[in-house]
Amino acid sequence: MREIYLDNAATTRVHPQVAEKMMDTLVNNYGNPSSLHRLGIKGEQAVKEVRELIAKNLRCQAQEIYFTSGGTEGNNMIIQGVVENKKRNRMRIITSAIEHPSVLDVFTFYENHHIEVVVIGVDAQGHIHLDELATAINEDTILVSIMGVNNELGTIQDLKAIGKIVKAANPKCVFHADFVQGFMKIPVDVKACELDALTLSGHKIFGPKGVGAVYIKKGTDIKPLVRGGGQESNMRSGTENVPGIVGFGEAIRLRQESFMGEHQEIQNLRNYFIKEVTAKVEDIKINGESNGSPYVLNISFNRVRGEVLLHSLEAKGIFVSTGSACSSHKKEKQYVLKAIGLAEEYKEGTIRISFSKDISKDDVDTTVEAIAQTVTGLRLLVKPRRK
Ligand SMILES: Cc1ncc(COP(=O)(O)O)c(C=O)c1O
Repeated sequence: MREIYLDNAATTRVHPQVAEKMMDTLVNNYGNPSSLHRLGIKGEQAVKEVRELIAKNLRCQAQEIYFTSGGTEGNNMIIQGVVENKKRNRMRIITSAIEHPSVLDVFTFYENHHIEVVVIGVDAQGHIHLDELATAINEDTILVSIMGVNNELGTIQDLKAIGKIVKAANPKCVFHADFVQGFMKIPVDVKACELDALTLSGHKIFGPKGVGAVYIKKGTDIKPLVRGGGQESNMRSGTENVPGIVGFGEAIRLRQESFMGEHQEIQNLRNYFIKEVTAKVEDIKINGESNGSPYVLNISFNRVRGEVLLHSLEAKGIFVSTGSACSSHKKEKQYVLKAIGLAEEYKEGTIRISFSKDISKDDVDTTVEAIAQTVTGLRLLVKPRRK
């Protein structure tokens, strides 16, 4: 059975060229980048090249990039690093209601440790209320953390406008964005957005899992989370994941020329999916922003359970998800749908389709047909019996 993989926001399949480069690094570039001999220098050079590549794509300096074990660590590193560095009597930190758990959980942790946490609400499309943000920032505010692209809805926040609001209200406040779902999919300019910190991850762009990076603007006060040998300019100790970093770099290299063009192709595919599914299945809702990230499509089916639909599609070789993979183990699974005010009868029947360049129009036809069949069958089962 041919597999149709539509869960690319959860993770992507490693590109063969990425795997090849990683294998070569594992076998031939195995020195510790901290070693003084030439094998160490060769490893250090490989890491340096990827650092420069990321900096070029973010339009910042190479010294402002630090490697991590992925998006979760990156978000923790920035949020905890800012809070632990300040340790003032009165501190306020601000985020949005639809952040990834690797942001929201850290905020909840601090809320329980007597730090004032403000969670900004969103509209029906998932855009944060900018006026709410503007009034929430005061002189005690040390951090604003707002994601660039939402992982469940694909909604894109206006980071430039947010940056302007943050810095106008309190120039000393650190502005951070989780950009895990946006990197190498939509362009970002950290300077134009007045960002002090940005989180990236490798496995959403055909790179390996367990590697990522953060941008930290020069001069931003952040306490390191992981201490030890002083790697990554003392910001993140531990021997560098050289094969992972090289793989991340190759994934970026493979996308940097093509992602702007790919964007339109994926947009066309997403539009086609919406047109077909709307024509073939009644009583559905497309959630999120129509001009958001084309890579994510969030659909709710009334009178269907998302999980049942997911497994029925899986039996046909089609892989989708309900909400985000990262929060599927959590108690409050549907906090994003709740935040956009989705009606109760649609919430349970929500799936996320996330595209990649490997998906064709034929795949969309097959998937929509399978959804139409399954949804019709499931709805027959739940239809109340006639007397
Ligand atoms: C928006 C967002 N932030 C952070 C993460 C966590 O990244 P990682 O899986 O690299 O820890 C994810 C992963 O799904 C994500 O979608």
